[in-house]
Amino acid sequence: MKKLNSAALQKISKIVEENKDRPGPTIVMLHKVQDELGYIPFEAMEKIAEAAKTSVAEVYGVVTFYAGFTTEPRGKHVINVCLGTACYVKGSQALIDDVLKMTESPINGTSKDGLFSLDATRCLGACGLAPVCVIDGQVIGNANQNTKLHDEIEEIIRNERNTERA
Ligand code: FES
Repeated sequence: MKKLNSAALQKISKIVEENKDRPGPTIVMLHKVQDELGYIPFEAMEKIAEAAKTSVAEVYGVVTFYAGFTTEPRGKHVINVCLGTACYVKGSQALIDDVLKMTESPINGTSKDGLFSLDATRCLGACGLAPVCVIDGQVIGNANQNTKLHDEIEEIIRNERNTERA
């Protein structure tokens, strides 16, 4: 397991110190760590468990129960492509193939440069707009009939990846 740097450890300690006496401290601290670091490292679960006088297993259970928490670092930009039945029938496979090529991120993983995370999700509950994608919280419906997703990704790459590589 990769060790956390001291800046991240300090942030976790500060969050725990400031929130350990609040009601429902585990959830509060987890949310703050997720917001601050973009994920919940194991070290945070240990500190939170100690402060909330519970076990690491309990905290880990909470982290894995809520979809909003993740134990792996996420990319700067998060893309979801729905592979539910309605979206799949309407061509979401072609969308995800395009996203894979552009982002260089594996499905349900993060690109090596940390710029993109790509999730293949089940039904997002918007089948009337199939196929549906979400990029950084922005929903794109009928995504096979427009180039919005492609354009958004292209713009991010132009602004962030190309300047880094230049
Ligand atoms: S199957 Fe994609 S939104 Fe329902």
